[in-house]
Formats: sequence, structure tokens, C-alpha cells
Amino acid sequence: MCWLLHAFPLVMLLSLNASPGDASSVNPCCYFPCQHKGICVRVGTAGYECDCTRTGYYGTNCSVPEFWMRIREAMRPSPTFYHFILTRFKWFWDIINNTFIRDTLMRLVLTLRANLIPSPPTYNSDYGYISWEAYANVSYFTRILPPVPTDCPTPMGTKGPLQLPDSRLVAEHFFLRRTFHPDPQGTNLMFAFFAQHFTHQFFKTSGKMGHGFTRALGHGVDLGHIYGDNLERQHKLRLFRDGKLKYQILNGEIYPPTVMEAPVHMIYPKHVLPGDQLAVGQEVFGLLPGLMMYATLWLREHNRVCDLLKQEHPTWDDEQLFQTARLILIGETIKIVIEDYVQHLSGYYLQLKFDPELLFGVQFQYRNRIAVEFNQLYHWHPLMPDSFRIRDKEYNYDQFIYNTTMLTDYGVEALVEAFSKQRAGQIGGVANINENLLKVAIGVIEESRLLRLQPFNEYRKRFNMKPYTSFQELTGDEKTAAELEELYGDIDALEFYPGLLVEKAQPNSIFGESMVEIGAPFSLKGLLGNPICSPEYWKPSTFGGATGFELVNTASLQKLVCLNVKKCPYVAFRVPDDSGEEPMEATSVSWKKEQSTEL
Ligand SMILES: *[C@@H]1O[C@H](CO)[C@@H](O)[C@H](O)[C@H]1NC(C)=O
Ligand SMILES: *[C@@H]1O[C@H](CO)[C@@H](O)[C@H](O)[C@H]1NC(C)=O
Ligand SMILES: *[C@@H]1O[C@H](CO)[C@@H](O)[C@H](O)[C@H]1NC(C)=O
Ligand SMILES: *[C@@H]1O[C@H](CO)[C@@H](O)[C@H](O)[C@H]1NC(C)=O
Repeated sequence: MCWLLHAFPLVMLLSLNASPGDASSVNPCCYFPCQHKGICVRVGTAGYECDCTRTGYYGTNCSVPEFWMRIREAMRPSPTFYHFILTRFKWFWDIINNTFIRDTLMRLVLTLRANLIPSPPTYNSDYGYISWEAYANVSYFTRILPPVPTDCPTPMGTKGPLQLPDSRLVAEHFFLRRTFHPDPQGTNLMFAFFAQHFTHQFFKTSGKMGHGFTRALGHGVDLGHIYGDNLERQHKLRLFRDGKLKYQILNGEIYPPTVMEAPVHMIYPKHVLPGDQLAVGQEVFGLLPGLMMYATLWLREHNRVCDLLKQEHPTWDDEQLFQTARLILIGETIKIVIEDYVQHLSGYYLQLKFDPELLFGVQFQYRNRIAVEFNQLYHWHPLMPDSFRIRDKEYNYDQFIYNTTMLTDYGVEALVEAFSKQRAGQIGGVANINENLLKVAIGVIEESRLLRLQPFNEYRKRFNMKPYTSFQELTGDEKTAAELEELYGDIDALEFYPGLLVEKAQPNSIFGESMVEIGAPFSLKGLLGNPICSPEYWKPSTFGGATGFELVNTASLQKLVCLNVKKCPYVAFRVPDDSGEEPMEATSVSWKKEQSTEL
């Protein structure tokens, strides 16, 4: 530890009293004075106003509650409290699951969460105020909180050091895995690869335009990772017969075509010959066999759905079959994400339900814009193990990454079974990132500095949580707390992503309170904000009739796999209960090829 502390004597010194220059010239919004979602507007040179409109609070800093807000505040249970209730008392929830109360609670979960996301979107990384450009230019990721003004005394506003601690040191110290910590919720690699596969349809930071910009202009579940993020790419992937996507048959099974058959740009190392490069919607999915496995499953599902549609609608042309199948797959995806994926992740005994009709009686905007903060928080690399166990063999990162033959060597069933049985790592509260992936986490910190993300505590407040008053309260661990204090000086200067990862996990949970309270709103708004969930779209005819609607309403991870393989393997987002798994030893290989900060 000493070497780390000694690396920063200068920074520490400066951080103790951060008031450079003339205090009267400091932009007052750098103090983040406005509470409860009030908007800070600079007035004159040294003045500010907080716009408290519709916050339920008033006063200079929007800190005085109006009468009704005072009562609501007093009655609102803390996130810890309802998490406790929702993850215990199984007998109670077994009763609730089968009553109308399930619908009522599900509606409450959806509205309370989704209402925390502004819609239409507000800021972006270039516009810290409402503007037409920020609204209309969808190449930007949006922002929930505006960037820290550029003229603030410190990178985090007014608190903390003048220069933030070296991002590599933060990552090596607080994120780098020494021993593998298995996720206590039993999350497996099937979940980890699903997360990666699913989120890379909307997390596509633009290489050309830079951080803060996205190439995924659909801003949500548009299945661009299956169909391509633009029309030209989609057309190259399509067979133009019966609505289907191009494919090849290997060992009697359907796989994605090669780039020779579907000439789209894919990222592969030079030594991989074009005949071995599989072509799918997302250009980076050649990176991991787990991603290509999901790409294969969804390709098979698309073509299977096309067959079903064609049977019912022999008069439909290729285009209508394709478009309708795509909507069905979007619906299936959302169903699986809510009822299998989020259900597992939440640990709730309340049985979650995908039913857009729950929102038909309340105000809800069917639109979505992906936020920088959502992208930042979704870097769940601690999930990744130290090696990959398939059948009786163990593969290190060098053998696994860009291994284009593994999927076809083993086949989809064997990989599903292997990934479903191998445990993933716990994400929060422990240093648990494999060294091969550490540079991704460093990239996340660097990005947040370039984009001037506000401090972790400001996000706590924005998402209705109390700001932490000390590093000790945040981590629940004296040693880590002392080390963080040494580096950041002030809990109010702690950065967003490090805050999420070092926060103590909830009991027997994969991560801490903030990841849930900040992540869930983005997630649910993105899922239910999809146009297929709107009253005009959510009806059988949109999906080609009752059969297609039924496909959406009965979709599950199990069916996605088992209807598209010959022999149904063990498939779930958690390891089987009896798996007596031992943590595995770390391997010392380096991940040489990195294609995107998100991966
Ligand atoms: C408002 O916030 C500023 C900056 O944090 C603080 O100095 C001031 O005392 C606050 N004013 C009131 C009335 O709370
Ligand atoms: C969005 O903003 C960026 C940065 O200003 C600009 O380069 C791009 O052309 C804009 N996109 C559109 C569609 O106007
Ligand atoms: C209620 O839902 C939870 C979560 O899906 C599940 O664990 C439990 O078995 C369900 N109970 C019944 C009776 O369906
Ligand atoms: C790729 O995986 C296969 C197993 O399917 C293995 O035999 C091969 O050695 C791996 N390739 C590399 C380059 O490690």
C-alpha cells in the first residue's frame, strides 16, 4: 500500500484546501448547491439560481419541502427496506405471485423507476442545459446530470484533489482480482454473455466522433446487434427470401454466414481468414465464443419465426416477413430480459412480469435515449472468470478470445451447458476484475473524466438515495475506506464508476444499493419505452396475429435455446443448486486485442 500513497504526496497536499485563485470568481454551480433535482443556473458572475419547479421543494437551494413532500418523505421507505422485503419471506411472495397485487406492485416498480429518467431527454456531454441540439442530435448519448462545469476549481467541482488519482492505480488497487469471488446469487457465464450480447446493441461508443457519441442510433432494444445498426448492413445480412437472414450449415447445424457470404465489416485479428470470420449484426461479436453463441441462437430464432409466419401468411413478401419477425424478436428479447434476466439479477421473490398494459393507465413516454451514465455503470467485467471451463477442458483468455472454431467445434448445446454451469464473479464490494480486463475499467474511469461526470454522491441524490457521509459508510471496510480517503480526500469527490464498484454489496447480493437504484431505472425505461410496448403497437396484428403475439408472450431463455438446438441442455442464468464449484486459479495471460471500451 505504501508505494501507492507515496505516489501522491503533491496531490494530497493540494487537495487539503482546494480554493485556488479568487474565491469570488468561482462558478457557484460548482458547489452543486441545488438539491432534489433543482436546476442550477449561473446568474451574473458570482450568483446562481436554483430552479425548483415541480420538485416539491423550495428555497434558495430547493432544500425546503412543501407540505405534501414533507409527508411523503416521512413515509417513503428506504431502498434498503424494500430490498429487504422483496428478497425475503418467500412464503409471502408465493401468495402474492398469484394475486392482482402482483400487477399492482409490478406497475409500481415500473413507474417509480422509470419516472426517474427524464423523457424527452435533457442534457448531453456538450450541453449542460436544455437545448434543441441536445434533443435533436441523436448521435449523442444523453446525460442524466450535466457535466461538471469546465471552470470549476477541481475536476469534481469544488471538492477533492486538483488532479484526480491515476486511473491505473485506482483500478489496480480497488478493482484488480487477487482471488476469484464467486457471485453469491449464483450468477453464471450464460448470464454474463447475455448481458454483454444484449447491451452491445445500444452501447456502441463512436470511434470516429469520440466519447459521448454513439453509433447505435436506435437508443434501445432495436436488435441492431442482430440486424446491423444501419440499413446497408442489414441488407448484406439478409437472404431476401422468406424474410430470413443468411446462414451457413456446418455439421448439420445453422450458423451465421462468413464475411465472404455476407460482406459486412467485422473486427477480427489479421490471422483469422475471411472463411473463418462469421458475419453478424454487431461488428465486435467475433471476440468471444459466448457472444457468437448468442448471435447464433438469435439467428436460428429469427429464421424459425420466419418459417412460422410464412405458414400463416403465405401471401406475405420477404420484407413483411422480415419486419414482423424482427418485431417478434424484439418482444421476445424484452420478455426474456424482464422475466429471466432482471428477475435473476434482482433476487426478488416478487415474480416480475412483462406486461405493457400495466402502464396503459398512467402517463408514460414511449421513447428512450441511452445515457452515458448507463453505459458507465454497465461495465460488469467482474463477472468474467479467470478461465473458461468447457466439458473437461479449461481455456485461458488467450485460447478463448477470438477463437473462431470453438463454437462450431463444440456446438451451441455444449457451450450453453458449460456457460450455464460455470459461476460468474461478484460485481460489487470486492476487487474482482481479471487482469486481462483491467484496462477496460481504466478506460471507463478515463472516459468519465473526459466527459466530466459529476461525483458519485450527486448521482446518489439524483436517484433518491442519501449521499454517503464517509468512505467507511460506503465500503463498510476500514482499510479500503482509508485508502480511498487517501486518494480522493473527500467522499463528495469520489468518482461515479469507482463508487459503484467499491460500495459494499447488499447481503448475499451481486452488488450494492447504488448499482440497483441507478441501473434499474435506465433498464426499465429502456425496455418499456420501446414502441412495441405502446398502446398502438401492443396488439396481435403487429406481430402477425395471435401466433406471433403468443411467441412474444411466452418467450423464455429456456425456449430460445431449446427450440433451436437438437438436444436441450441445462440452461439458466444461475448455476444449478448442487454445483460444488471451487474458485479457479488466476491465469497470467494478457488480453492483447481490445476493440471497444465497452467490452
Ligand atoms: C445553498 O447552498 C450553498 C452552496 O452549497 C450554501 O453555501 C448556502 O448556505 C445554501 N443556502 C441555503 C439557504 O441553504
Ligand atoms: C451531432 O453533433 C456532432 C457534434 O457537434 C456533429 O458532428 C454531428 O454532425 C451532429 N449530427 C447531426 C445529425 O447533426
Ligand atoms: C413467486 O415468484 C418467485 C420469483 O419468480 C419464485 O421464486 C417463486 O417460486 C414464485 N412462487 C410461486 C408460487 O409461483
Ligand atoms: C480454440 O478452441 C479449440 C477448442 O474448440 C481449441 O482446440 C483451440 O486450441 C483453440 N484455439 C486457440 C488458438 O487456442
